[in-house]
Amino acid sequence: MKVLVIGGGAREHALCRSLSLDPDVTALHCAPGNAGIAEVATPHAVDALDGAAVVALAARLGLGGDDLVVVGPEAPLVAGVADAVREAGVPVFGPSAPAARLEGSKAFAKDVMAAAGVPTARAYVCTTPDEVDEALDAFGPPYVVKDDGLAAGKGVVVTGDLAAARAHAVACERVVIEEFLDGPEVSLFAVTDGTCVVPLQPAQDFKRAHDGDEGPNTGGMGAYSPLPWADPKLVDEVLDTVLQPTVDELRRRGTPFSGLLYAGLAVTSRGVRVIEFNARFGDPETQVVLARLRTPLGGLLRAAATGQLAEFPPLRWSEGSAVTVVIAAKDYPAAPRTGDPVGGLEAVAAQDAPDAYVLHAGTRRDEEGRVLSAGGRVLSVTAGGASLAAARERAYRAVGRLSLEGSHHRTDIARRAAEQEKTGEAG
Ligand code: AMP
Ligand code: GLY
Repeated sequence: MKVLVIGGGAREHALCRSLSLDPDVTALHCAPGNAGIAEVATPHAVDALDGAAVVALAARLGLGGDDLVVVGPEAPLVAGVADAVREAGVPVFGPSAPAARLEGSKAFAKDVMAAAGVPTARAYVCTTPDEVDEALDAFGPPYVVKDDGLAAGKGVVVTGDLAAARAHAVACERVVIEEFLDGPEVSLFAVTDGTCVVPLQPAQDFKRAHDGDEGPNTGGMGAYSPLPWADPKLVDEVLDTVLQPTVDELRRRGTPFSGLLYAGLAVTSRGVRVIEFNARFGDPETQVVLARLRTPLGGLLRAAATGQLAEFPPLRWSEGSAVTVVIAAKDYPAAPRTGDPVGGLEAVAAQDAPDAYVLHAGTRRDEEGRVLSAGGRVLSVTAGGASLAAARERAYRAVGRLSLEGSHHRTDIARRAAEQEKTGEAG
């Protein structure tokens, strides 16, 4: 099958890397891609938000009913790009615009969860300052205030400061104010065709910019999988109480969700609660989950796109662990500087591959062929190993060979989990 991947971040690089290793994938294209993706997939320029343009590109590449388009990021999904491709007769991995509202509107997600009996934080949807004050008062600190729409990870403020909570709320048109959830966070992805739900392995993301979970929220500074501290029954529990009921509810409403359902979860003392849903693979968790997936990815995604997941064989996973460390540009996330040269890529390829490798997030090549930074998160250095400690060591060894002026990365990705793995301590 021929595959076209829409997007151009580290998630899409991870997807393309796995697809390039699938023997059934005969041609691999990406749009727009980045400097790293261009090494495994043929890059094409496209406006990823323009469904007609994506359909035209797929047609130009000769994609038909036996092929596959994978839509990586949320914005094209919410804009209906998957619908346009599906209407053109090409199987597409990614939900319709109405189903992608599960990510596109936090209020809609809350409504679906209430109808499906899915455990989540209690919440109020507010549109006036009086409603905001009432909701903040009802929950007390720490305050959780979320912009209702897509905000690329910047719409959520968690603070003990009432004035800051109020200021964020009034800056949003419609806001969701909710109960604070205590406990470690887990990202669990599931591949679904709208009926059948196949969970992947859980991962944990590090959202704050600096070591020790200090600093501002980011798109994600690193991730690891598996989670040595998690209850082995967690995946089955989340399948039964969260993923399957949500997929069933969206099908019942006439807007079946097919694609990747991402549950962001808090494991609280009172049980698992949904923090948020996303309608696509998460970044950087995808980098570690796919590093461990042994089942060829193209066949899995195509089975979801064509409604054939129930017949798909059980997924196979590596027994080992994976860790990814994000290298971010100077002044990310506030005002990332771009255009700096990235050094050391050849050294990692020569000395660390295949155990450790560099996935590109925001990069491009200049006229001389040099790789330059082109976004806030620049690289996602990924490694596998027999244990989290081994994967971690390999990932950081590769990080040490790379250079990007002014860049920063966390030095504590998976540190605690690697210690827990050693001692068998619970989370
Ligand atoms: P979201 O965009 O909904 O994933 O929120 C971003 C981050 O804010 C989450 O990963 C959590 O760390 C934090 N957060 C969101 N909702 C809550 C909540 N109800 N309680 C505690 N932390 C939260
Ligand atoms: N890892 C966070 C996200 O993809 O939204």
